[in-house]
Amino acid sequence: MSEKLFVFDTTLRDGEQVPGCQLNTIEKIELARALEVLNVDIIECGFPISSPGDFNSIVEISKVIQRATICALTRAVDKDIDVAADALHYARHKRIHTGIGTSEAHILHKFKSNKEDILERAIHCVKYAKKYVEDVEFYAEDAGRTENEYLARVIEAVIKAGATVVNIPDTTGYCTPYEYGAKIKYLIDNVPNIHKAIISTHCHNDLGMATANTLAGVINGARQVEVTINGIGERAGNTALEEVVMAIKCRKDIPVFTEIDTKSIVKTSRQVSTLMRMPVQPNKAIVGRNAFAHSSGIHQDGVLKNRESYEIIDPAEVGVNESVIALTARSGRAALKHHYNRLNVELTSEELDEAYNKFLILADCKKDIHDDDLLVIVGVTRSVKSQRIRLKYLQVVCGKSAVPMATVKLVIDGEICTATSSGNGPIDAAFSAVKMLIHRKITLEEFLVQAITKGTDDVGKVHIQIENKGNIYYGFSANTDIITASVEALIDAVSKII
Ligand code: KIV
Ligand code: ZN
Repeated sequence: MSEKLFVFDTTLRDGEQVPGCQLNTIEKIELARALEVLNVDIIECGFPISSPGDFNSIVEISKVIQRATICALTRAVDKDIDVAADALHYARHKRIHTGIGTSEAHILHKFKSNKEDILERAIHCVKYAKKYVEDVEFYAEDAGRTENEYLARVIEAVIKAGATVVNIPDTTGYCTPYEYGAKIKYLIDNVPNIHKAIISTHCHNDLGMATANTLAGVINGARQVEVTINGIGERAGNTALEEVVMAIKCRKDIPVFTEIDTKSIVKTSRQVSTLMRMPVQPNKAIVGRNAFAHSSGIHQDGVLKNRESYEIIDPAEVGVNESVIALTARSGRAALKHHYNRLNVELTSEELDEAYNKFLILADCKKDIHDDDLLVIVGVTRSVKSQRIRLKYLQVVCGKSAVPMATVKLVIDGEICTATSSGNGPIDAAFSAVKMLIHRKITLEEFLVQAITKGTDDVGKVHIQIENKGNIYYGFSANTDIITASVEALIDAVSKII
């Protein structure tokens, strides 16, 4: 029978340790709320002794989160645990995550100590945390490189001391899946009281094996996974939540289930990427821009006939509207026909052949083929639609210590309208002025600026995706002035709605 697998999200702790990804308290609350919507079981919010900011964030998150358990990290140090207990004061469900390094490298070099002393400190920190909370998770840092026999002794002792969850981190991402799975099995077979605690995985991705190791742990009996959204975290990152959750959903032979609302996965991924200013690589499993994009003719034809030919996950399951049939020089007639259907252009098979030949010539010299290009190929200029909104004038004020401001004049249906707005930068200000004029609720889903060469006089290409009433609209523009290009790309996308 399938058993519940607890999802412990550490985006706000291990993920937030990444240089440049630091969040303020308001942003952390926003993310914690998103994680609750995603339905994670435990949210690790920070390391409270490390800074007043971390402490405060845990206090504030504890006040707003209702269902998920709030977890705070500590070292095996009494003062850390006192501070964590204090930070968790308002949490409805609270957990202290405490522990110590157990590998030879940690014992000898980091602590300049010995195994017996570390064992004593491990027992003490669990007992000390237990004075404050019932739910105490113990981590054996660098368990991945800890010899199994000693690890088993430590785990048995901390469970006896009251640990409810025992975390077996592959801190350096050193293990192979076989080895990590065998470690979990060793603990199940050799720790007499192991049934009194939940075993947790916590795998880093230094060799690109974090997800594989996590799944090996689960297959061998772990019932909690420690993960981050988009796999962000120290160095090469942590195990990605979306990968483990979807692997479990998709592979019926792994005998566990999670309660994650998978339809919120892509939305949460975008939110983390935006808040942490950490782009997601296009080919990232599950959440990358190309995760459901098909570009070769054979694949496109297969997907158009039956999605399952080349997709193991229905994109709707993770909150993506539909697969993308990308038009490139390798696309076939089926893909082209699909796009003409989408644009409501009906072609006979001779017309399609002719359009396809023209398309191939264009695709050979142009990387991105847009709807307008397709319409030009068949002799249709985009109806009034794209001319209904035009950028007539744009002025921005920005610079050090200046409040970024933008004035935008648009021609909408022949009428000139003007708006001025501020923002956190010139593009933000200009976008907000455009939004004031178009009277549509739009959300920016993706914003990508690319330079063609490396010069400061280069042409900037801007790709934009916006969302309106659940539909995604794409816009593009290129200009040596990237602010103008950005506003034009936004208008290009907006004109497709209006
Ligand atoms: O990677 C690790 O070992 C950790 C522990 C502090 C849990 O993040
Ligand atoms: Zn870690």
